[in-house]
Amino acid sequence: MKLTTSLLAIGLALIEFTSGQNLTKAELANLEHYWSYGRSAPVYPTPQSSGLGEWSSAYAKAKALVAQMTNFEKNNITYGQASTTGCSGVSGSVPRLGFPGLCLADSGNGVRGTDGVNGWPSGIHVGASWNTDLAYDRALYMGAEFKNKGVSVALGPVVGPLGKIAKGGRNWEGFSNDPYLTGKLAYETVQGLEKNVMSCVKHFIGNEQETNRVPPALLPTAYNQSLSSNIDPKTEHELYIWPFQDAIRAGAGAVMCSYNRYNNSYGCQNSYSQNGLLKGELGFQGFVVSDWGAQRTGIASADAGLDMAMPGSSYWQNGNLSQAVSNGTLSQSRLDDIATRIISTWYRLEELNSPAFSNPGFGLPASLNLPHVLVDARDPASDPTILQGAVEGHVLVKNVDNTLPLNKPKYLSLFGYDGVAALRNTPNAGTKWGFGLENTQVYPNGTVWPDAFLFATFLSSEPAGTTGPGIALNGTMITGGGSGSTTPAYIDAPFDAFQRQAYQDRTLLSWNFVEFNLTGKVDPASDHCVVFINAQSSEGWDRPYLSDDESDLMVNNVAAQCKSTIVVIHSAGLRLVDGFVNNPNVTAIIYAHLPGQDSGRALLEVMYGVQSPSGRLPYTVAKQATDYGALENPTLPVGVEYYTQDNYTEGVYIDYKHFIAQNITPRFEFGYGLTYSTFSYSSLAISPAKNANTAYLAPNSTLAEGGPTSLWETLYTATFCVQNTGNVTAAEVPQLYVGIPGGPPRVLRGFGKASLQAGAESTFTFALNRRDLSAWVPGLGWVLQKGEYPVYVGKSVLDIQLRGSLTV
Ligand SMILES: *[C@@H]1O[C@H](CO)[C@@H](O)[C@H](O)[C@H]1NC(C)=O
Ligand SMILES: *[C@@H]1O[C@H](CO)[C@@H](O)[C@H](O)[C@H]1NC(C)=O
Ligand SMILES: *[C@@H]1O[C@H](CO)[C@@H](O)[C@H](O)[C@H]1NC(C)=O
Ligand SMILES: *[C@@H]1O[C@H](CO)[C@@H](O)[C@H](O)[C@H]1NC(C)=O
Ligand SMILES: *[C@@H]1O[C@H](CO)[C@@H](O)[C@H](O)[C@H]1NC(C)=O
Ligand SMILES: *[C@@H]1O[C@H](CO)[C@@H](O)[C@H](O)[C@H]1NC(C)=O
Ligand SMILES: *[C@@H]1O[C@H](CO)[C@@H](O)[C@H](O)[C@H]1NC(C)=O
Ligand SMILES: *[C@@H]1O[C@H](CO)[C@@H](O)[C@H](O)[C@H]1NC(C)=O
Ligand SMILES: *[C@@H]1O[C@H](CO)[C@@H](O)[C@H](O)[C@H]1NC(C)=O
Ligand SMILES: *[C@@H]1O[C@H](CO)[C@@H](O)[C@H](O)[C@H]1NC(C)=O
Ligand SMILES: *[C@@H]1O[C@H](CO)[C@@H](O)[C@H](O)[C@H]1NC(C)=O
Ligand SMILES: *[C@@H]1O[C@H](CO)[C@@H](O)[C@H](O)[C@H]1NC(C)=O
Repeated sequence: MKLTTSLLAIGLALIEFTSGQNLTKAELANLEHYWSYGRSAPVYPTPQSSGLGEWSSAYAKAKALVAQMTNFEKNNITYGQASTTGCSGVSGSVPRLGFPGLCLADSGNGVRGTDGVNGWPSGIHVGASWNTDLAYDRALYMGAEFKNKGVSVALGPVVGPLGKIAKGGRNWEGFSNDPYLTGKLAYETVQGLEKNVMSCVKHFIGNEQETNRVPPALLPTAYNQSLSSNIDPKTEHELYIWPFQDAIRAGAGAVMCSYNRYNNSYGCQNSYSQNGLLKGELGFQGFVVSDWGAQRTGIASADAGLDMAMPGSSYWQNGNLSQAVSNGTLSQSRLDDIATRIISTWYRLEELNSPAFSNPGFGLPASLNLPHVLVDARDPASDPTILQGAVEGHVLVKNVDNTLPLNKPKYLSLFGYDGVAALRNTPNAGTKWGFGLENTQVYPNGTVWPDAFLFATFLSSEPAGTTGPGIALNGTMITGGGSGSTTPAYIDAPFDAFQRQAYQDRTLLSWNFVEFNLTGKVDPASDHCVVFINAQSSEGWDRPYLSDDESDLMVNNVAAQCKSTIVVIHSAGLRLVDGFVNNPNVTAIIYAHLPGQDSGRALLEVMYGVQSPSGRLPYTVAKQATDYGALENPTLPVGVEYYTQDNYTEGVYIDYKHFIAQNITPRFEFGYGLTYSTFSYSSLAISPAKNANTAYLAPNSTLAEGGPTSLWETLYTATFCVQNTGNVTAAEVPQLYVGIPGGPPRVLRGFGKASLQAGAESTFTFALNRRDLSAWVPGLGWVLQKGEYPVYVGKSVLDIQLRGSLTV
């Protein structure tokens, strides 16, 4: 957003102005020296791109073009420059050689902040669908919208945050806090997007919370620094790098480095993470772009592997890099590699270097409030995918005595602030609209949440606990807030869909979306009451709570007067339900997540049984917030600590691994979800693959995008049968968990989804490759563990239907 860009400049200037107000320059330098140096292993130089795999022809063309460029021209394409478009950032160009520059635009959930685009289901909704085909189709059509708008690089998907912090503000942008599920969906998403636009997987790495993600530039304590994520190599590989690895294997054209520090060295100047992990171990061939304003140094960041700075760069602009080459501060080969990586990504997709793309961002006006040609980027062919994507992220978790599906009810009463669309969906510069927060205007206590405050929190960490409203009171939630949000073509709210259905079924409808205290305002003759509540979350801060008393009270209030109360929760992250889950009058609960613009009609597909619900929780719902332990809240400074440290002492034990290890019974476990049918599982067989190499160490193999190819060799396969033993067609999501010796008792290592008619049976075959069955050992890499691996196949991580084992 333009506004954000200029505010960013003010914020950056303020750092220089305010730092030192409390600490002297010498004290500041000391702190910086003490914290920043020697805690993250140095890895130099940056491995050069070499045209691995599918990059070979793009790389060859890029080499040839870069050979014709002057150093100034190479430098010119490395940072964001002024643009007349609405792209989130536009790189410099080389007009002399016909390189028009790249338009980078939000987000991983659809084109954001403009007109003529669709509002797709968000990441968490895709995660809840557990459907890899649907993830691919969503990305394919979403990518086409980016292309139609002239975008070269879509800023998504998000696989970091992975979601270790329960209240993490951006968890909803990604798919799940399980790396395997996220990795599979990220792979499909990158492949789908890159049919039409290059992708940018983000945020690398350890970007697990919003609190202190950037220095508090607008506060007097501007000398506080970004949180440092201190991650040991085992945890780093087995959790946080895992989905990045899948995305890079799928061909991701760009990777965004993150705001936070990693082992106290800033993400965009960390040689270990960028040179060592990304470009070394993972063989990444594209370019690394900074998160907006995350570049902190000049030559140091170039040497540490940063290739592009956005949305601008005071460090690299005006030929500074080319000058640094001529005076010997930066190597010629690094500048050449930077340019080659950027140009390679441009050549990866033929479309980007076609005449149509001579003016990147052509469909994105800088201001929607000024006259412009409307570029309608939508394709009617994508409509079924938008709807089905919305349907499959709904997770039914309680359904007493077949309350659902509804069948021509005589009388329905609807309640709750989340039932109707916001009264405003109009482009409006400088407001919350472009950040998906038009429905979030006030705190529950009625205090107005000013737009200016929203933008300030994006630029500057505020004192811990400063947040936007934890619920969206001004309209149904179809997206979370921030740069990962969507700006829909329309919003089909639940109420809109119920109105249509009521007409068709001659159902009596009453509603009250205004009040919280509904005592004496519920007609007891209602067959069912439906209460719509939500849980809001945004980039810029972490969530204030995992459930709010006002909404819980409203549900119980309705339930006290209505014997069948159905609760629908739109949520940008997990939401606790123990405030009402055991109320006997609460007969059904649906997690409706963030379905995008087809929210209402998708909800009714499920509630009226046109389709059986087929979503499964991509996270664990605890009985109480404290059950998440230290991972409930973001990490705060300890004592007088201006460099907040998160030591990741929990290791790989996040979410269900934590609950199992601590023997805590969750309310609803990872992978859980009900359908309108029943399924039986049988005939689990686990067999070694022919000629599989099950040596402890991975055999030597060539480095490809995503790492050594030996990691993907299938070592075992598991097959089993699932039969629909009920009376209706429904989709089952069988899940396979493995206990790797020495690791958590269960980690997800396979899943599938199949819609089966009543009585039908399907055989599932899951391949287990070397990485799936290995543990990371520093110095040795991914190594198989000797011994017996228990194997579980079930309906969730706790509802195990079949058991077996394999022995390495
Ligand atoms: C830092 O300076 C600000 C503004 O000058 C002041 O309000 C604050 O109390 C000072 N903090 C400390 C720890 O001295
Ligand atoms: C980062 O810090 C962790 C925890 O202190 C340590 O185990 C790891 O080796 C460090 N990584 C690097 C690259 O220095
Ligand atoms: C650098 O990029 C800018 C912005 O695209 C462009 O106007 C300018 O002509 C470029 N400079 C050179 C030397 O190519
Ligand atoms: C080399 O050039 C860069 C970029 O202008 C500058 O920052 C640096 O101080 C110069 N170094 C020397 C030794 O002149
Ligand atoms: C309402 O809640 C907000 C957010 O918690 C808080 O900042 C504000 O002070 C509260 N207002 C009143 C009147 O209590
Ligand atoms: C938002 O909702 C609150 C609570 O219902 C209401 O008081 C306020 O007027 C609404 N604001 C807007 C701009 O719609
Ligand atoms: C809710 O409304 C009822 C009926 O008007 C009233 O008796 C009760 O005190 C109200 N409850 C709260 C918490 O305001
Ligand atoms: C359930 O609903 C019935 C009928 O409205 C009411 O009489 C009863 O008190 C309710 N039970 C609870 C626990 O709210
Ligand atoms: C800055 O650090 C101090 C000392 O650790 C801490 O008390 C304060 O909360 C921090 N401020 C912000 C905005 O992070
Ligand atoms: C993090 O680890 C470092 C080094 O082991 C230690 O000094 C520090 O106290 C730890 N920080 C916290 C908050 O536990
Ligand atoms: C891989 O190759 C290196 C160098 O040739 C050799 O030292 C090492 O033993 C090989 N490793 C395996 C597992 O074959
Ligand atoms: C299927 O229908 C039969 C006969 O109506 C009924 O007895 C049975 O409970 C139903 N099964 C399920 C799983 O709903």
